[in-house]
Amino acid sequence: MSRLVVISNRVTPLSGAKAAAAGGLAVGLLATLRETGGIWFGWSGETPEQATTLPNVFRSGNITYITLDLSEQDFELYYGGFANRTLWPLFHYRLDLATFDSDWYNTYRKVNRLFAEQLFPYVRDDDLIWVHDYHLIPMAEELRKLGVKARIGFFLHVPFPAWEVYVTLPWHDQLMRALCTHDLLGFQTKNDLRNFHDYLYRETIGYALDGGMVQVGDHRIKAHHYPIGIDVDDFGEMATSIEAKRSSERLSRSLLGRNLIIGVDRLDYTKGIVERLQAYETLLQDYPNQRGQVTFVQISQPSRQDVPEYLELRHQVEATSGRINGRFNEYDWMPLRYINRGFTRRTLSGFFRLSRVGLVTPLRDGMNLVAREYVAAQSPDDPGVLILSRFAGAADDMDGAVIVNPYDVEAVAEAMYRSLIMPLDERQDRWRRLDGQIRKHDIVSWRKGFINDLRGLSTNETTNDDQLSAE
Ligand code: G6P
Repeated sequence: MSRLVVISNRVTPLSGAKAAAAGGLAVGLLATLRETGGIWFGWSGETPEQATTLPNVFRSGNITYITLDLSEQDFELYYGGFANRTLWPLFHYRLDLATFDSDWYNTYRKVNRLFAEQLFPYVRDDDLIWVHDYHLIPMAEELRKLGVKARIGFFLHVPFPAWEVYVTLPWHDQLMRALCTHDLLGFQTKNDLRNFHDYLYRETIGYALDGGMVQVGDHRIKAHHYPIGIDVDDFGEMATSIEAKRSSERLSRSLLGRNLIIGVDRLDYTKGIVERLQAYETLLQDYPNQRGQVTFVQISQPSRQDVPEYLELRHQVEATSGRINGRFNEYDWMPLRYINRGFTRRTLSGFFRLSRVGLVTPLRDGMNLVAREYVAAQSPDDPGVLILSRFAGAADDMDGAVIVNPYDVEAVAEAMYRSLIMPLDERQDRWRRLDGQIRKHDIVSWRKGFINDLRGLSTNETTNDDQLSAE
């Protein structure tokens, strides 16, 4: 079996608090690497004053971790700048928040080059290289320039936007050509894949062939959608673990029999947190019989705090939650608990299981694994209801949820009300459907689908038609 080389901006630590709080994706990637053996390469998480250009290498079992420090300045321009203030807002349809700065772009290219140069000595021709996410779009181009022959696949975890949005990027053409240097491109949903095809067609740089293949210049690549999932049983077991029970019992005692509504996200403007809080305010306003009967716990883990838009969001969320509590507080009931910190996945799984309603209402999201986790954590006998934004990739294959438009505050309030009073048999029906759906698209089917496709491709697909018909 070929060795796997995973490249991502963040490399998940093996142990410690960060590992316990690691998301489902990191856990899934680690499991993949453990199976095949290989390398995990990326940024070390450090920006020392004297950044050396030599990577840190350490081995654990059959995985070699290779990480690179970045200088403070490179990190700020590459990650804080181009990745998080240009590509992130742009790919999430927030043109109003996207900044275009050529220094940022040049540093982004430079860091990708540096990553490729540092990884190069460790790569073998028969490896399978799997690049992750928008931080590293030019990776294959840089590796090929150095002479790497191995097959290289790329998976985009965030949405790929509509053509009209993507072309506002001054470097859209260069970046797209770099992306198409990979042998396999993976997107979360059919819609992302459609947007990608649409771009190629409208900009006349490529066209679709049979079997998911795409011709771009003289390069033939495969592009497909691979919806990411979770390890359903693993998460379900967590929700009944001692740790989960301990914290959920504490939370339960504090609720005094009230229904729990829960929201858990990184504190990010794509997650629709302010709109969600407004919807809750509307629920309390329009359905007075719910006052005193319900508690909303919104957990927002701080994220990218050096980026000004995130600081602004934090102020907005704080102001909105303060207003809601100020408006509806009673001496014996506080409607909203806004918690600005992260918890372990285990603790969260217990909170999910305890809740009557889970709110996953991003304004735009690649997939959203919290939606999957919410379902996995439920008790089949008394499951909570998932309210899910139609703009999350997860809405594509989770139609057992109550699907909402997160911009429509009144409709979300109405959906909350409907979910709070939903009869047990409907909750169970919906949950069974959702359980089947998250099992169909779980973490194993995601990684196997992608890796098998990558393995099945020949390096640098040529324009040889014999090869194509063999696909
Ligand atoms: C999203 C991105 C990931 C990223 C994560 C956390 O899920 O798709 O690539 O790692 O957010 O963001 P951060 O900037 O803290 O890595």
